[in-house]
Amino acid sequence: MATDQALQPAVRVQGIEKSFKDVHVLRGVDFDVARGSIFALLGSNGAGKTTLIRILSTLLRADAGTASVGGYDVGAEPAEVRGSISLTGQFAAVDEVLTGRENLVLVARLRHLPDAGAIADRLLSRFSLAEAAGRRASTYSGGMRRRLDIAMSLIGNPPVIFLDEPTTGLDPQARLEVWDTIRQLAGQGTTVLLTTQYLDEAEHLADRIAILHHGTIIQNGTLAELKRLLPAATVEYVEKQPSLEDVFLALVGDEL
Ligand SMILES: Nc1ncnc2c1ncn2[C@@H]1O[C@H](COP(=O)(O)OP(=O)(O)O)[C@@H](O)[C@H]1O
Ligand SMILES: [Mg+2]
Repeated sequence: MATDQALQPAVRVQGIEKSFKDVHVLRGVDFDVARGSIFALLGSNGAGKTTLIRILSTLLRADAGTASVGGYDVGAEPAEVRGSISLTGQFAAVDEVLTGRENLVLVARLRHLPDAGAIADRLLSRFSLAEAAGRRASTYSGGMRRRLDIAMSLIGNPPVIFLDEPTTGLDPQARLEVWDTIRQLAGQGTTVLLTTQYLDEAEHLADRIAILHHGTIIQNGTLAELKRLLPAATVEYVEKQPSLEDVFLALVGDEL
């Protein structure tokens, strides 16, 4: 029934396990991602975040467990899963020799979409790249390149987008730009599953946060729920000192 479909989570992960030789990386991972939400999978380096994203995007097979994306089973219906997702990997897939616009047109043509030029122009303006459209991507800043990368992955309007460490290696301003982009996406109904090793990224962006540690999800909740896990601090009156991020942004400006 259509209503069941709409109520189903966009991503469902149940008991996923994966080993590489004798390294048991994922030991039974479970979580759901609600449609139209931003879900952050938080874990340190080597926790298995990329491994899980590769399983969900059908690039890798799980040893045990089941997972579905957009209602399609990743093991049994890989083509349908691939049709429902886009994946932006940890390392930007942008072709540096091409201009921003050419990169977008190329992807639209590869997907056999009519009017590739118009699709490119819409995305360039949506991601504030219109002015830089005719410049080679090699001249772009880290934030612009990431935005272009995300724009490229949106061609064809996938309902679910996986972002693997979208801001690793970016400077603070570029991170804020990418965060805005991700919020925009979710605001328009796209389901976003992102991985991050940054606590503040999960804190600022995500509707729900799951912590992947030693192969399982050790906590899963909203930020408020996770904060309630620790006893409330006793009330103390202290001067509010600006964070280093506040200072940095005040000095260099946070304009896009
Ligand atoms: N193809 C592979 N072969 C062997 N080991 C791998 C492979 N891919 C990942 N690993 C190992 O699995 C663990 C998790 O890696 P990964 O999923 O990339 O973690 P994360 O993305 O959280 O940093 C690491 O110990 C890594 O070395
Ligand atoms: Mg990774």
